[in-house]
This record gives sequence, C-alpha cells and structure tokens, in this order.
Amino acid sequence: FHTAAFQKDLIHWFKAEQRILPWRKDQDPYKVWVSEIMLQQTKVDTVIPYFNHFMEQFPTPQALADAEEQKVLKAWEGLGYYSRARNLHSAVKEVVEHYDGIVPDNEKELGALKGVGPYTRGAILSIAYDTPSPAVDGNVMRVLSRVLMIEEDIGKPAARKIFEAVIRELISKEDPSSFNQGLMELGALVCTPKSPSCLLCPVQEHCRAFEEGKEQELPIKTSN
Ligand code: ADE
Repeated sequence: FHTAAFQKDLIHWFKAEQRILPWRKDQDPYKVWVSEIMLQQTKVDTVIPYFNHFMEQFPTPQALADAEEQKVLKAWEGLGYYSRARNLHSAVKEVVEHYDGIVPDNEKELGALKGVGPYTRGAILSIAYDTPSPAVDGNVMRVLSRVLMIEEDIGKPAARKIFEAVIRELISKEDPSSFNQGLMELGALVCTPKSPSCLLCPVQEHCRAFEEGKEQELPIKTSN
C-alpha cells in the first residue's frame, strides 16, 4: 500500500471538491466542536441553519457559557438529543472557567470534557489544531474497510480502536486536518453505503475492495 500517494490523492481531492460548509470557513476549535456535536446524530443539510444561528447567538465560548440553559436548549430545538446541548453547555463553561475560554489542544484535557468522546476529541485535534489524531465515525470506518479490505465488524465496539490504530499509521503528518476531513467527505460524497461511486473515486487506484470487486460487501456490519 502506497501511503504517501494515498494521502496526496485524498488531500488533493478534498481541497478541490469539498462542500462549502459554515464550519469550514476557518479552523476555530469552538466552531469545529459545536459542528461535530451537532453532526453526530443529524445530517449536514439539517445542521447548517442551526449551526449558523447558534454561532450568531453564541459566537464564542464566553458567550455560550454566559447564556441561560433555556436559551441554549431553545437554539437546539428541532435537532433532538438535547443531552448533546446540555453537555456542550456544561463543557464550554468548564473551558471558560479552567482554560480561560481556550478549547484545549490535547487529548487529556479535551477527553475529560463532558460529551467529548474519542471521535469529537480527534476531530477537534486534527481539524482545528492540525494534530495527527484519528477521528473515527461510521463514514470513516466504511471508507477504510473498503480501501484496506478490513473485514472487522464495524458494529462491534472494539472496531473503533482498530481503525484508530490504522489511521495513526495512515494519517498525513503534514495536513492531518485535510486528511481526516477528506475521509469524512469521501464517505459522504463518493464512498457511500450503497452503490459507491468507485468510477469517480479519487483513491480508486489504492482501493483493495474495488480491485477485487467487493466494495458492495464491505464494511461488515452485523448489528448497530
Ligand atoms: N460529518 C462529521 N463531521 C463532519 C464534517 N466536519 N464535515 C462534514 N460532515 C461531517
């Protein structure tokens, strides 16, 4: 497997073809955080207007920390899974109180914040802070299952750590942000669950599943 060429092809494609999304205008860790929490159980198209409104209302960690919980929940209304909003509000207060309003840039402090699991932590570290940290969600597991023909059951909790280890090897140390977002974007636009667009795929030549005609058989997912 030619890791350097894979990185280059993925990053080049991401830079050229990425969707214009409001949380991609800069690398503000607060915006990355809010967007990743919103995107966890909600589709991109639904999230966009909520994200924009949220940032108008609460443009900084300080502004969010100062807000009444009812205001925060009101801004979340319609997105569902309200514990996401409560945890985010509580964690942002912690950031204002303990870190002077600066979102932490390391695994330990980030991971200790309410609602920040391994995925969100990796997304903030890579996308906002350019740290080579894995951010494994369902899209990313699907893409890598196919590219590397990993026959691990992605429905099992143990799968995440396996994919994290794979990404630690694979991730671009020069541009971890574009690499991780490239995996997410490829999963959203090209390497889709059914009928992936392999003929248009920027990493087709690196894909073991395509080579064997098995892209439809991966990933393996028994439950959840
Ligand atoms: N899904 C999860 N994170 C995302 C992101 N940063 N951009 C687009 N879709 C996503």
